[in-house]
Amino acid sequence: MEEIAVVTGAGGGIGKAVSLMIHDKSGGALKLALCDINEKSISELASRIPGSFAVASDITTELGRKALLDAVLGQGAPSVLVNNAGVDKPHEPALAIQEPSYDVLLGLNLKAPAFLMKSFGKEMAASGGGAIVNISSVLARHALTGSALYRAGKAALEALTKQFAMELGPRGVRVNAVAPGFIMTPMTEGIPPETKEKIRSMVALGEFGAPEAVAEAVWHLIENQYINGAVLPVDGGMAL
Ligand SMILES: NC(=O)c1ccc[n+]([C@@H]2O[C@H](COP(=O)([O-])OP(=O)(O)OC[C@H]3O[C@@H](n4cnc5c(N)ncnc54)[C@H](OP(=O)(O)O)[C@@H]3O)[C@@H](O)[C@H]2O)c1
Repeated sequence: MEEIAVVTGAGGGIGKAVSLMIHDKSGGALKLALCDINEKSISELASRIPGSFAVASDITTELGRKALLDAVLGQGAPSVLVNNAGVDKPHEPALAIQEPSYDVLLGLNLKAPAFLMKSFGKEMAASGGGAIVNISSVLARHALTGSALYRAGKAALEALTKQFAMELGPRGVRVNAVAPGFIMTPMTEGIPPETKEKIRSMVALGEFGAPEAVAEAVWHLIENQYINGAVLPVDGGMAL
């Protein structure tokens, strides 16, 4: 049975880098399931990664998550899940948060990874083990105006990471998180230059990160067999 590595949000900046890193570092041993709501971006990526396949799905819905699980089980056994798909907008100051924004931000950043950890974790436990990596954010531990609901979702995702790590560890499934700082991707490219400069001044290394820096950390957490329940910052020292 082929071993599958599932990456959500695979068509985005960090998701692409993570997918390419897993393919390279595993020497092609892990077959990539590239999931995204944006079909074009994952079809292009699938054509660059031998043996991979694209699953266009909206993982905020139960139906979309089931379609992803079924597509993966149709190709082999999941042994890696990277919960990477995320959204940071709308940016609303604390006193302006809106209920529809809550549903958007928490739906993708918290509900989707929670229930994907449940369904894929079950499969991994039944087939002898696996590794789950959740993509959190420096903002889980750092306040920035306009990030209230995003921050709440990522902080809760870190709590879930530790909870699943504790409950799934005995069944051979390790669960960890990477907490990126400011990374240059489509998510951050529209931020006004003056805001970018303000954020850059908070980074001890004085520069923004590349998606590949996050991808390397994800691979480390997949590969190292004794790390469980960890949150690894990849933020150039922004959370200090
Ligand atoms: N970039 C940063 O500075 C930064 C910092 C800290 C944490 N992070 C986290 O890193 C992760 C990846 O971020 P990124 O910067 O690579 O963002 P990105 O380039 O915007 O990629 C996110 C991908 O997820 C897809 N997506 C959106 N809604 C979806 C859904 N309902 N179902 C499936 N896929 C969906 C997006 O498709 P569309 O483009 O079509 O919407 C996009 O391809 C996120 O969890 C983010 O919160 C990023």
